[in-house]
Amino acid sequence: METSEIRRRFLQYFEDRGHTVVPSAPLPSPDPNLLFNVAGMAQFVPYFVGQQTPPYPRATSVQKCVRTLDIDEVGKTTRHGTFFQMNGNFSFGDYFKEKAIEYAWELVTKPQHEGGYGFDESVLYASVYYEDDEAIDIWKRVAGLPDDRIVRLGMKDNFWSMGIPGPCGPCSEILIDRGPEFGADRDWEAGDRYLEFWNLVFMQNIRGEGGGKEGYPILGELPKKNIDTGLGLERVAYLLQGVDNMYEIDEIYPVIERASELTGRKYGSEHEDDIRFRVVADHVRSALMLIGDGVTPGNEQGGYVLRRLLRRAIRSMRLLGYEDPSLVELLPVSLEQMKKSYPELETDFGRISQVAYAEEEAFRRTLTAGTTIFDVAVRETKASGAHQLEGAKAFQLHDTYGFPIDLTVEMAAEQGLNVDTEGFKSLMKEQRERAKADARAKKAGHADTSGYRELRDKGVTEFTGYQELSTDSQVRGLLREGAVAEFAEQGETVEVVLEKTPFYAESGGQIADEGLIVGDGLRLKVLDVQRPVKGLIVHRVEILEGVLRPGTDVHAQVDHEWRVSACQAHSGTHVVHAALRQVLGPNALQSGSYNKPGYLRLDFAWTSALDPATRSEIEEVANLAVRQDLPVSAQYMTLPEAREWGALALFGETYDEQVRVVEIGGPWSRELCGGTHVKHSSQVGALAVTGESSVGAGVRRIEAFVGMEALHYLGRERALVRLLSENLKTRPEELPAKVADLAERLRTAEKELERMRAAQVLQAGAELASNPRDVFGVQFVGHRAPDGVNGGDLRKLALDVRGRMGNEKPVVVAVLSVNDGKPGVVIALNDTAREWRLKAGDLVRIAAEKLGGRGGGKDDVAQGGGTDPAGADDALSAVEHAIGHQVTG
Ligand code: SER
Repeated sequence: METSEIRRRFLQYFEDRGHTVVPSAPLPSPDPNLLFNVAGMAQFVPYFVGQQTPPYPRATSVQKCVRTLDIDEVGKTTRHGTFFQMNGNFSFGDYFKEKAIEYAWELVTKPQHEGGYGFDESVLYASVYYEDDEAIDIWKRVAGLPDDRIVRLGMKDNFWSMGIPGPCGPCSEILIDRGPEFGADRDWEAGDRYLEFWNLVFMQNIRGEGGGKEGYPILGELPKKNIDTGLGLERVAYLLQGVDNMYEIDEIYPVIERASELTGRKYGSEHEDDIRFRVVADHVRSALMLIGDGVTPGNEQGGYVLRRLLRRAIRSMRLLGYEDPSLVELLPVSLEQMKKSYPELETDFGRISQVAYAEEEAFRRTLTAGTTIFDVAVRETKASGAHQLEGAKAFQLHDTYGFPIDLTVEMAAEQGLNVDTEGFKSLMKEQRERAKADARAKKAGHADTSGYRELRDKGVTEFTGYQELSTDSQVRGLLREGAVAEFAEQGETVEVVLEKTPFYAESGGQIADEGLIVGDGLRLKVLDVQRPVKGLIVHRVEILEGVLRPGTDVHAQVDHEWRVSACQAHSGTHVVHAALRQVLGPNALQSGSYNKPGYLRLDFAWTSALDPATRSEIEEVANLAVRQDLPVSAQYMTLPEAREWGALALFGETYDEQVRVVEIGGPWSRELCGGTHVKHSSQVGALAVTGESSVGAGVRRIEAFVGMEALHYLGRERALVRLLSENLKTRPEELPAKVADLAERLRTAEKELERMRAAQVLQAGAELASNPRDVFGVQFVGHRAPDGVNGGDLRKLALDVRGRMGNEKPVVVAVLSVNDGKPGVVIALNDTAREWRLKAGDLVRIAAEKLGGRGGGKDDVAQGGGTDPAGADDALSAVEHAIGHQVTG
């Protein structure tokens, strides 16, 4: 059975039993403690813990997950994959243990022709939390399992949590006995023979901080008893497809096949190669899914994980002997499989592949640059007589050039060297510890959220700022350094929560509103506005006057000018986004933005710089849309409705049931957005694009000024043009021609100057030729030319002098000049001098030594130089001495 069919049957089965089908949340996790979603229940946590009322009593989903703790293990064992899918059914205080077991058992054992998975009951087992007699009882009753097929296990195996504080509970799993060839009888620990594939969590507790699977405290009971189940889709797929492991299922194996065709190696013949094949197949698929959800390669957090995955895949292909770009071959193969369940991957493939291919190109450049550094390190190591490359070098290659250590080890081995991997590891450890210390420091900077939660528990803050800029309200509470406080006085900076507020909290790229909160004898200046927990708006204020207390009546007043400009900038961002997509096509999708009064910037997926004509076109399309005075409106709808409408959602955001769609000119621009906007596009005013640059692989940034700022910007440009045209005494439209003409004349003048200088240098030739010194019969000319003569001219001079002196007597000409602070020397000999066994190359080396450098060349003419101008005169006398030495010796 195809993986996509297993997935489809799951959702169908539970939909038929009253579950709402909920789409997978995006891979990036909204929880700052996790990079990616690691379980199906993640998006439902607020329902489990009672923070929000679930909109449905039961739900089902197939969640995309990425677990990266085991990244180094991928491929070595057949059990670790990075991307996987988890089928789940969830009950929020609705059904509990009995129904959960009944559903799971029915779907697993129902024959395939009746829509089930058709597993053979006789090889199935159930594990339960050791003290859960109730579950044992249900398994016996509902599934008819005998005692010896039910096993009691401890907390490590049968108590589930996300690994962080939050909901948790005892669980019960369905295991399948794969037969004695996979392990010993009743050996539950090893995990290969009795493979668990469906985990039913009886979500009823809340846990605290603590390490490992057993070392955390249970803080209490959840408000309701819930169900969270997780059926490993890949596991079921390999069990039903009759293959050994997840790498061999229909969604993954074709990549291995293609890799095998490309490399000419066979999967299944060499253990080391097999590991590489599996790394390639797993990582290519994970990268496809991550980029699909808007992650781009980078050096931090999720971006770094993606970068590692891509680089490990590329590197593994190289180790398999394939040196050409490989993603272009493999990514489309993965797409072919994955699009069956995720059709959006095909629509987005232009963007996805651009990002992946750009990263491969960057990595290939890295390899080239790093190889040069590597070669130098090898030379130095060998020169010092050592056989081991220092750990510090390997670390530098890794840290600066992204060289994986195994690459360094292997390349060193080819050069007959080994690598101090222990030294490397200890440097890596130091770096990790530094990073951890940084992270801890950052975390401590954040206020503990319990104070916010206390105020949030009193209700959601109403936001009135879409309709009005000033609102009568009341102080709900205040916080000093994160802790709820009873009062604060003039001069203090504290955080305030109001019952309702017109102040926009920073989000969706728009910065917070500025303004004042006033009351009887009270004046607060709003410095920042944030939403630290969902539903709570918090103002950071400076108390200009009075004493602040909970319960005080106040009037909250957003600065009108500020807000108007903020609206212009935010609507401007949407306009520029739509213009980008109109000009560049739908791949130019926004990945981040920032806007504040007068200014906006927008990061978008694109791999090459925009040429000036394209930039102007984007600016023109944007300004035309402004001029057309398109209506701007916002409306609420469900996420599927918004998608149907073509509204663009930002990556990595988890949206509520009801989303807000802002549109400008109907379908021209539709985005999911909570920001504040103008009412008509003409209110954006002028829009001037000021720059476009790269901010990482496959991501570009466009910047613009909006409204009055755009006019000021254009005004500054105009002033600059005026100044230039005054200085150059020409009309503005003639400036380019004038500047080009000036540059051309400057070039001609420089050439002329150079010619004249050379002529001047050469003029000295006749005089030098007539005044040689006699050094034991050798006619020696040692001349220090004026500073600034380049190597070419020195050579001309030396040859000119030599030519003038004929061949009758031995002649040695040495000329030297200091150019740009660096001394250079040229020595020329005639044939007779060479018959006297003098050599230009030897003499130049002697001169260059005095100049702190090197030199060499042929016997008749040689050239050298150094870094020490102070040695210039010594150099010439050293040459003279050497001649004497040679002739008399
Ligand atoms: N949350 C549980 C798991 O991930 C069941 O869905 O295994």
